[in-house]
Amino acid sequence: MRDPAAHRDTHAQDTGQASLPSTSEFRKLMGQFATGVCVVAVETESGGVAAMTINSLVSVSLEPMLLCWSLHNSSSQFDLFAKAERFTISILSEDQAEVALRYAARGDSRLVADDFATSSTGLPSIIGSVGHFECRQYSSHTAGDHTMLLGEVTAMSPLPATEGEEEAGVSPLGFFKGRFFSIGNE
Ligand SMILES: Cc1cc2nc3c(=O)[nH]c(=O)nc-3n(C[C@H](O)[C@H](O)[C@H](O)COP(=O)(O)O)c2cc1C
Repeated sequence: MRDPAAHRDTHAQDTGQASLPSTSEFRKLMGQFATGVCVVAVETESGGVAAMTINSLVSVSLEPMLLCWSLHNSSSQFDLFAKAERFTISILSEDQAEVALRYAARGDSRLVADDFATSSTGLPSIIGSVGHFECRQYSSHTAGDHTMLLGEVTAMSPLPATEGEEEAGVSPLGFFKGRFFSIGNE
């Protein structure tokens, strides 16, 4: 059988136009880009917690220290995250795939209060994670069907070990081709 991708390439040459890849092709190639897994958490107006599993975290700037993550515009919790002035991003550890699945569920019905610790500034973060950043919202930008939320880092935990000190050694959870995996602690 003829390879459909080869057909598209020939078509592009004939017409002088590049045909766009499909969204499923885009997802498939992006799935080959291994990432870590995080949980974004905010305090709600009623003093509760809203949390969502994400893998769209990127480091944007050092001065100031900026992070960015992308929130789906159709999220049932969109307003909670998009309007939050402050949020945390916890980097999940390799034994937290269950936590990742819990906060990938739609809405907040599966929230477990014991998953969270509260920082001195009142922000919730995931207990047992590799570490977390506390952020103040810096800006937000609609980008297609997502909104990019930039956060300025105001605190983080744990602070990296100083020279000569042993690193804490918790390994992060990875995500690759739609599955969780252990990165190991090399
Ligand atoms: C590994 C993984 C990474 C995800 N990354 C994102 C992300 O970066 N942004 C996002 O909006 N949703 C992401 N999701 C989906 C959300 O966790 C959640 O399932 C989705 O928002 C549906 O729930 P909601 O409608 O209550 O938001 C991810 C899910 C998984 C399992």
